[in-house]
This record gives sequence, structure tokens and C-alpha cells, in this order.
Amino acid sequence: MSVIKSQGYNVLIDEDASILKSFIEQLKPSKIFVVIDENTKLFCLPHLEEYLKIPFSSIQIVSGEKFKNLKTCTLMWDALMKNGCDRKSLVINLGGGVIGDMGGFVASTFMRGVRFIHMPTTLLSQVDASVGGKLGIDFLGYKNMIGMFQNPELVWIETRFLKTLPERELRSGYAEVIKHGLIKSQELWRKVVAQKLDLSDDEWTALVDVSVQIKNNVVKEDPKENGLRKILNFGHTIGHAAETHFLKEGPDNKYGRLLHGEAIAIGMLCESYISYKEGYLAGPELRQIRELITSIYPLEHKLMPYKQQIFEILKLDKKNERGELNFSLLKSIGDCMYDKKINKLLIEDSLRYYDADVN
Ligand SMILES: NC(=O)c1ccc[n+]([C@@H]2O[C@H](COP(=O)([O-])OP(=O)(O)OC[C@H]3O[C@@H](n4cnc5c(N)ncnc54)[C@H](O)[C@@H]3O)[C@@H](O)[C@H]2O)c1
Repeated sequence: MSVIKSQGYNVLIDEDASILKSFIEQLKPSKIFVVIDENTKLFCLPHLEEYLKIPFSSIQIVSGEKFKNLKTCTLMWDALMKNGCDRKSLVINLGGGVIGDMGGFVASTFMRGVRFIHMPTTLLSQVDASVGGKLGIDFLGYKNMIGMFQNPELVWIETRFLKTLPERELRSGYAEVIKHGLIKSQELWRKVVAQKLDLSDDEWTALVDVSVQIKNNVVKEDPKENGLRKILNFGHTIGHAAETHFLKEGPDNKYGRLLHGEAIAIGMLCESYISYKEGYLAGPELRQIRELITSIYPLEHKLMPYKQQIFEILKLDKKNERGELNFSLLKSIGDCMYDKKINKLLIEDSLRYYDADVN
């Protein structure tokens, strides 16, 4: 159980439910809207109903990254309008990173801004997406192209929600925990290597806690990603490109979709290799990283056959400056640098390095 202070809001982990109820009452919302999907309606909403006991309307969307787009936002804005949402209302995002990013975006843009609370229900959204104020949606198939920075009133985390999460989703979220260890904490890295996904309830609370603290410390120092915050993008340059590519259906994708964390695991493998080739990361550390990632993730998606498409997507990466590709790279495990320009040949080499592990 813990309270982590962020910029103007708190992140509460496994705290007593009465705290949430009184926090909401103090906000005196004119109306409450809870954003859910078919899974969080089934697995998470009943818990909230049990202790909230305040009337609310729910807005149900269809789960999945495929629906994190303008069309779903339109449906949500429509539901807010039709159900009398005003500027004193409150939106509660009860779901994973898709609901958090999109629900926050919809709330922040409706009538120039309605307050919202994040209640993240996946590992990925608990340790990463709900903290740091990034909101947004995908546009024309490109990840998180439209969005903004806006903080919630509160982030309310209950690790018991992880119990109903499918194993594949849990592994996906674990990638961001691994990333936090790699960029900032050797201690967390040693923990993830030792525990993998086999954790007791208390260990989950502790793991989420330490992971949120690492992310929070970084975003507090650099909220708008002008410098240090870029280290959180380790694994995300190639990871986002792979995720974007495999979002598309059709003959060009025989593998199916990658979950966000699975794509980031691939990206971390490639970008660790680049860190090594650039002379920063030591060989034995690269081997440790490769061993952990290959032991957790199925690694079924080859990248080299799609290198052209991946380079096209990389051109639109939000970290690029003046047409140059910018990477965050590891100096060693627990230490990350940012704004490193990398040439195309080395990126291609890293895709080849990753492909060698594809089953
Ligand atoms: N804003 C940020 O800083 C940030 C950071 C990282 C990732 N993201 C975004 O987060 C998204 C990925 O989030 P995600 O991995 O949570 O995926 P998700 O939101 O798609 O959720 C994954 C699946 O789990 C289901 N689910 C949610 N909670 C559940 C529960 N308790 N029990 C059973 N099923 C449950 C959902 O319905 C969904 O089917 C991506 O869009 C990514 O871009 C944002």
C-alpha cells in the first residue's frame, strides 16, 4: 500500500477503498462517467460498484488497440453530450492503456476539459500508461499520433485486477517493468530476472510500486519530454514501428498483431544490440538482456522481411529531429542515455540480430 506524489496528483496503490470514495465526494462532480470495455465491465466494474455507491453512467467501448481512434472518440463525445456531461463532471477511466489514453483524451478535449481519474486495470497501464500525463489516440494507423499532456485528478491502482488478466497481457505489461529496470534500476532488473512472472500478491504490489516510482521520478523531472523523459522511450523506437506495422491486417502481415509490451520487448532487444554496437553496453549485459527477453516472449514476428515498411514508419517517430532518427540507448543495465543519432545500417543490423531469435 502506498501513496506516490506526482505533479499535482497522487498515485495510490492498493489503498483502502474508502479513500477513493471520499476523494470523489470532495470533487463534488455534477455527474460521473465510467469508461469501460466488455472485459473491464465484467471483471472490474463490479468491484467499483461495490464500494463507490455513487450513481454514475457508464460508457462502454470495444476493447483493443484497433479501436483507439477518432471514430471511438466521436462515440464517446456523443455519449457525454447525450448524457448531460458538463465541465463539473468527472470521467473515470476503468481499463488498460487504451481506455486510459483515449478516455483521458476525450475528457480533456470535451468542453475544453473535464476532470478525470485513471483506474488502470492491466499491468501495463498500472506501471506505465496511467502515470505521466500522456493521452492520445492512433491516427491513420500510426501509434499515438494525436494527443496531449494532461494530468488526472488521481491514479487509483488495485493490483487485484491483475488476477483476471490473461497471461499474454500480463507478459506484455511486464515488458515495461523490465524497461524500468534497464533504464534506471539494477535492483529492479535483478528482481525481474529472478522472479519473472511468478509473484505473490504482495510481490505484485511491491513490483508495481517500485515501477511507478521510477516512472514518476523521471516524469516529475521532465514532464514534457524535453530531455530526461526520453529515456522512457528505450525500446520504443523500433518497438512502436513494429507495433504499428503489425497493427495492419492483410497479406503483408502473416503473423497477426503484437501487443504493446511484446513490441517493446522486441524493440528493447534491437536497441540493446545497438547500444552494444555503439560501444556503450558491455557484451555480457547484452547477453543477459537477450536471455531474459527470449525466455519470456514468444518472438514469432520477423522484422527483416518488412524492413522497408519499418523504415517508413520510423520516419514519423515523434523523437526524430530534423529528419534524423533519435534513440535512447543503454550505457549499462540501470543507466540510459537519450538523443543518440543512429544510422540506417545499424538499425537494419539490429533487426537481423533480433530475427535470429524468432522461433
Ligand atoms: N500514456 C502512456 O504514457 C502510455 C504508456 C505505455 C503504453 N500506452 C498505451 O497503452 C496501450 C496498451 O495498454 P494495455 O496493454 O493496458 O492494453 P489494453 O488497454 O488494450 O488492455 C488489454 C486487454 O486487457 C483487457 N483488460 C483490461 N483489464 C483487465 C482485467 N483486469 N482483467 C481482464 N482483462 C482486462 C482489455 O479489455 C483488453 O482486452 C497502448 O495503446 C499504448 O500505446 C500509453
